[in-house]
Amino acid sequence: MGGSSAERAISLRTGKAVLKALRNKHYSAEGIDVNSSIAQTLLKKKIELAFIALHGRVGEDGTIQGMLEMMQIPYTGSGLLASALAMHKGVAKTILRYHGLPTADFQVMQSNEVERANFHRVVTIPLPLVVKPIAEGSTIGTSIVTSKRNLRSACREAARFDQQVLLERFIEGREITTGIVNGKALPVIEIIPRDGFYNYRSKYTPGSTDYSVPARIGKPTAARIQQLSVKAYHALQCEGVARVDLMLSHKRNQPYILEINTIPGMTETSLLPMAAESAGISFEDLVEQIIFTARLKAL
Ligand SMILES: Nc1ncnc2c1ncn2[C@@H]1O[C@H](COP(=O)(O)OP(=O)(O)O)[C@@H](O)[C@H]1O
Ligand SMILES: [Mg+2]
Repeated sequence: MGGSSAERAISLRTGKAVLKALRNKHYSAEGIDVNSSIAQTLLKKKIELAFIALHGRVGEDGTIQGMLEMMQIPYTGSGLLASALAMHKGVAKTILRYHGLPTADFQVMQSNEVERANFHRVVTIPLPLVVKPIAEGSTIGTSIVTSKRNLRSACREAARFDQQVLLERFIEGREITTGIVNGKALPVIEIIPRDGFYNYRSKYTPGSTDYSVPARIGKPTAARIQQLSVKAYHALQCEGVARVDLMLSHKRNQPYILEINTIPGMTETSLLPMAAESAGISFEDLVEQIIFTARLKAL
């Protein structure tokens, strides 16, 4: 848990909630705050398996997964390939497109292109659009751009976090997320942020967002979204739990996949546990199901 990514605070919350659940289930478990001496720490302890409760860089991107492979410590969730693929929003969307899965039109720009004189000419995505760092989470560095005037500053903000920036067509619609446990979709959730944008504040401030579980979008649409989400999970070769974020367009009732999270938040109020709960799976049982999937993984 913890780590050094921008999502450290959330990861500590996930880690603490998971630890509590593991102890309630009588597992002997210990929380480790991940830093650059993690390999030495793991070597000192006798570890049967690692429950990865990290979000963002170094934890969710395949890095720690690769290290655990080398150390032969079985670990939860996706392997290093799926983790790395899903973390890079541009690569993930390219794979989704390849599989014929719907995702909004997009463009990947090098961060150093943002300052170039021809910046506006190389942008191919029409306004309104969304700008995000290529591999951040929690809406960090993300902006919705409705006017050309704000385009460069939005890209500059995203470029602070990564060497690449993603520009994506803005989808006006409902915000939907699908939790997946071992390849099976949970009931989909509709997220209704009170101030309209599901940003860091709406994600983590209690009371700032309403949720509808299951989403009130009609059974056929929900089933379609579940099916697409499971296909996306397999396309990226995910394992264990994952959460697929989508927008359901108002205009055509068309779902667009935004991203796949390979280590979804697991605080007691997070989306994946909320979906599990509505399917009759308690938080503690969900944690235990994740433990059961821990192993070393081939590419
Ligand atoms: N193409 C888009 N159209 C409309 N809203 C978007 C779009 N992309 C992102 N958003 C908004 O920004 C939020 C964060 O984007 P997302 O791609 O899920 O990245 P992350 O959650 O990793 O920061 C979404 O939950 C949604 O509210
Ligand atoms: Mg998201």
